[in-house]
Amino acid sequence: MEKKEQLYEGKAKKVYATDDPELLIVSYKDDATAFNGKKKGTIAGKGIINNEMSNRLMRKLEKAGVPTHYVEELNERETLVKKVQIVPLEVIVRNISTGSFCKRYGFPEGVVFDEPTVEYSYKNDELNDPLICESHVLAMKLTTRGELETIRTYALRVNEVLKEFWRSCGVTLVDFKLEFGRLPDGTIILADEISPDTSRLWDAETGKKLDKDRFRQDLGGVEDAYAEIMGRLKAQDHA
Ligand code: C5P
Repeated sequence: MEKKEQLYEGKAKKVYATDDPELLIVSYKDDATAFNGKKKGTIAGKGIINNEMSNRLMRKLEKAGVPTHYVEELNERETLVKKVQIVPLEVIVRNISTGSFCKRYGFPEGVVFDEPTVEYSYKNDELNDPLICESHVLAMKLTTRGELETIRTYALRVNEVLKEFWRSCGVTLVDFKLEFGRLPDGTIILADEISPDTSRLWDAETGKKLDKDRFRQDLGGVEDAYAEIMGRLKAQDHA
């Protein structure tokens, strides 16, 4: 597969065209941002970890019936993926209260929900990715009703599969963000990445944060936490 021109550079990844119009190459960077780009830094080796972790988790999800954009890992930072039209929503699933949930509602941290929550943010940096309700998603025709149902069903399935997998690694899956896209025939598939940048992962015993919150909150030991979570995953994932 030939890597052609760079199409896009995001906060954590670059995207390249290939000689196949239906496939793209994503390249994971070590750059880290938080608070909509207001905090910037680097996490050495993060791109390598996020590439491998996202690919392993997406392969697992495919087996569990969630279609994804994953095609093939090309090297330690680059992966071949299906080209999609991204649905401009961040789909957030929560099992335990923390982060913007607690901030928005003045709700205590660390409450385990009886049922996972699903919420949507409208992907728009200028507007700071505002929370959006289903009727507004439909009013702006960001998705059809059927697509939104599919997205919600897949998001909850991802939660079931990953919660169980992370539990087997001694890790609590607190919350995470997903993005979906449409193939040319309109099929909805999981896109973007699943990594410690986009998930909150706490050690099940000690509650130690093993994710990007260490960077966001200046907790230190960021690189070590990424290495630790990758090690935990590899010890359990034999696929
Ligand atoms: O900040 P908040 O509590 O809304 O984050 C919920 C989850 O979504 C966290 O796992 C966070 O890492 C992820 N997230 C993300 N990208 C954003 C916002 C949140 O990956 N722009």
